[in-house]
Amino acid sequence: MTFRKPGEDNLQEDGRATLEQLVRWRRDVRRFRRDAVPDELVQRLLRLADLAPSVGNSQPWRIVNVQSSAKRTQIISNFEAARSRSADAYAGAQADLYNRLKLAGFDAAPVHLAVFSDRSALQGHGLGRQTMPEALDHSCACMVTVLWLAAREAGLGLGWVSIIDPAEVSKVLDVPPGWRLVGYLLLGWPEEEHLDPELERHGWQPRTPFETRYSETGLDAAQPSGESPKAEKGSHGSVTLVGAGPGDPELLTIKALKALQSADAVLFDNLVAKPILDFVRPGARMLDVGKRGYKTSCKQPDINAMMVSLARDGLNVVRLKSGDPLIFGRAGEEIDACRAAGVPITIVPGVTSAQGAAASLKVSLTNRDHARRLQFITAHDRRGHLPQDIDWSAVADGAATTVVYMPKRTLAELTEVALVHGLDPMTPAIAVANATRPDERVFISTVGAIASELQAADPDGPVLVMVGEALRYATIRDAAEQAEAIVAALDAMPGQS
Ligand SMILES: Cc1cc2nc3c(=O)[nH]c(=O)nc-3n(C[C@H](O)[C@H](O)[C@H](O)COP(=O)(O)O)c2cc1C
Ligand SMILES: C[S@@+](CC[C@H](N)C(=O)[O-])C[C@H]1O[C@@H](n2cnc3c(N)ncnc32)[C@H](O)[C@@H]1O
Repeated sequence: MTFRKPGEDNLQEDGRATLEQLVRWRRDVRRFRRDAVPDELVQRLLRLADLAPSVGNSQPWRIVNVQSSAKRTQIISNFEAARSRSADAYAGAQADLYNRLKLAGFDAAPVHLAVFSDRSALQGHGLGRQTMPEALDHSCACMVTVLWLAAREAGLGLGWVSIIDPAEVSKVLDVPPGWRLVGYLLLGWPEEEHLDPELERHGWQPRTPFETRYSETGLDAAQPSGESPKAEKGSHGSVTLVGAGPGDPELLTIKALKALQSADAVLFDNLVAKPILDFVRPGARMLDVGKRGYKTSCKQPDINAMMVSLARDGLNVVRLKSGDPLIFGRAGEEIDACRAAGVPITIVPGVTSAQGAAASLKVSLTNRDHARRLQFITAHDRRGHLPQDIDWSAVADGAATTVVYMPKRTLAELTEVALVHGLDPMTPAIAVANATRPDERVFISTVGAIASELQAADPDGPVLVMVGEALRYATIRDAAEQAEAIVAALDAMPGQS
């Protein structure tokens, strides 16, 4: 790595790349090989970390290299007890996941370092600490960060453990009363190398977009993930109706993400894709109120009552619905329930499944050569039957694109009536199941044949059907792709050259 002289500023190209690599590869490591780390190497890294910035140049970090196996054993049981106490804060699937996570690597890590902040440090003459006494602890965290990066550069990994009772650690290590534990660090040779955090890989908490933490006004500064204040009972709660989109988590809006990250309770439908639930603030109450088609499920009035009652308890309640909450989502009833109860409600729109499906098919729903109207209809009334009051002349309009939500049960009847009203049976009709999800399936057909094709395939998961000449481009593309596949298969047959 080459550096420019002071005043010339900035690292040269290779230096910049090395720094970036170091930061990206750093990782909190919990899986260590048991091989020893030479003491000279540990000393070199600690001396490098000792150059870290500190408030008033106070260097308040105090590092205890814990070598006694008796003391290590006491520290490990401290961690085990703290870990099981912390598990009580979680419930259901989140508790199961917490219990499966590897949250430290005490057994294998050859080096144990307890880092304390000396709150009584005289060095630095109090500069910067009168207004912010916690700046001493921040300085210690800076030292650990430098150590983390230095360790990485040496091929070592470091894991920071905070699931531990600091008072007990101070007692075991018999440190002066003014020292406060900042972290218990495990250092050693990593068993694995990863570019993404262990907690992300194991489904606990992914990293989130930078934009949710950055603001130029300060007014709309984001709540960092997992740090939203817990609402006090008796204070004013609220409801946020959030659109989760059709399934792909990356189709969530930034506003939806912020709402999930500051939720105290989330009431979610069964159509909400599971990876989206991973964005919810850890510790929030998760209530599955899924209305499962024709099976027994939570009734709408119960959901309204639950939502209102949680908000009255002072919680930030997120009502999470698939797609857009205002499209076939019974939002009207939930908005009315909140209004009637005097609970403030905010709505965060989402990408509706029709948009997700159209994007997957790469078709314009309003192609100007073919479509004058775009209409979303439901094939499912309150009792699960085909609604009687559909405007059939609109459905039969050859210049319309119609998207049919909830078509599974009544599609045969719907297409039959549409044909009777004059819709051409050769009009393109495309069914998309699980749009934007990894298990998405597309059925390209015509109005005359789609119902029987869909019935034969009987795909799992939500399905919508799109009808109209505007979709012809998708059918032409599909036919061309099929023809190319046949030609390629023929070319590949033995004897063909
Ligand atoms: C102050 C602090 C305390 C932490 N405490 C723990 C801990 O007790 N157990 C654990 O498994 N990880 C702990 N971590 C590691 C974080 O979970 C980890 O940094 C985060 O998941 C991001 O992963 P990465 O460091 O690999 O980017 C801690 C990290 C910091 C900065
Ligand atoms: C109660 S409605 C909810 C619609 C949702 N609010 C929206 O904007 O997409 C449920 C219907 O939406 C459609 N749907 C929802 N997600 C879907 C997906 N990922 N793929 C296909 N259809 C979907 C299906 O027609 C399903 O029966």
